[in-house]
Amino acid sequence: MAKKFLLPNKAARIIVLQRIELASSFIKKIRKVFGRYIFSNFITKFFLNSDDIALKYYKLMSDEFLTIKKYINDNDNLLLSIGGGIGGLEVIINKNLKNKTFYFIERNYISKKVKYGWGGMVNDEAYNSFELQKSFLLINEIDKKNFYLVDYDNDQLPLKKFDIITSLFSLDYHYDFNLYIEYLKKVSKPSTKIIFDTIRAKYFNKIFKNVEIINSDIDTVHKSKRIICSNFID
Ligand SMILES: C[S@@+](CC[C@H](N)C(=O)[O-])C[C@H]1O[C@@H](n2cnc3c(N)ncnc32)[C@H](O)[C@@H]1O
Repeated sequence: MAKKFLLPNKAARIIVLQRIELASSFIKKIRKVFGRYIFSNFITKFFLNSDDIALKYYKLMSDEFLTIKKYINDNDNLLLSIGGGIGGLEVIINKNLKNKTFYFIERNYISKKVKYGWGGMVNDEAYNSFELQKSFLLINEIDKKNFYLVDYDNDQLPLKKFDIITSLFSLDYHYDFNLYIEYLKKVSKPSTKIIFDTIRAKYFNKIFKNVEIINSDIDTVHKSKRIICSNFID
């Protein structure tokens, strides 16, 4: 049987809001016809096939894992995910690699009208629920002592020196890297690897001593690149 995630009730909806490519082409057409408000508040609530999404999301996150796997060493134990959504990538990491502790900085609300666009320094879009994320991580076997959910809007951000920081299709994809730059300087050491998706990979040569493109998403509208960076220049 093909591998899939176990999904708590209602999780399929936020997963599709986080990853629109998981919606069927029929649902995507409806989104075009009825608009984004009706899509995020009505269609995603009632017309999704959870089993299908559990399968497709598992495959998608397993493929994402393959793009970053070789950069995670055995002694990279403390991981931070910024805008990791419900956490499918971290579940896959946890299944494949030992002794990892996961911190998530996410948001605990769903925007009324999902825009999926670049917001620059304005950053008010969110599509996550901590209640669903917590039960998703637990039923997919990340031990409760191995993860921490931090609410970007209400909690103090964790001040630890992380080994790996990931932000797939979130930081510098939906909102400007500068929103997090001072925080990232505090929580990284020279060896910390920061992995995110951006359409301006070259710009980061001014920010980090090391920048490497590890994947290119040329088929999408945004044509982003996944980069791995380390060592802030100042
Ligand atoms: C396009 S989704 C990507 C989710 C996941 N990384 C993935 O690849 O499936 C972007 C995520 O960023 C989150 N987000 C938005 N603003 C944020 C912020 N300031 N800090 C952390 N997460 C944020 C949203 O709630 C959403 O889950």
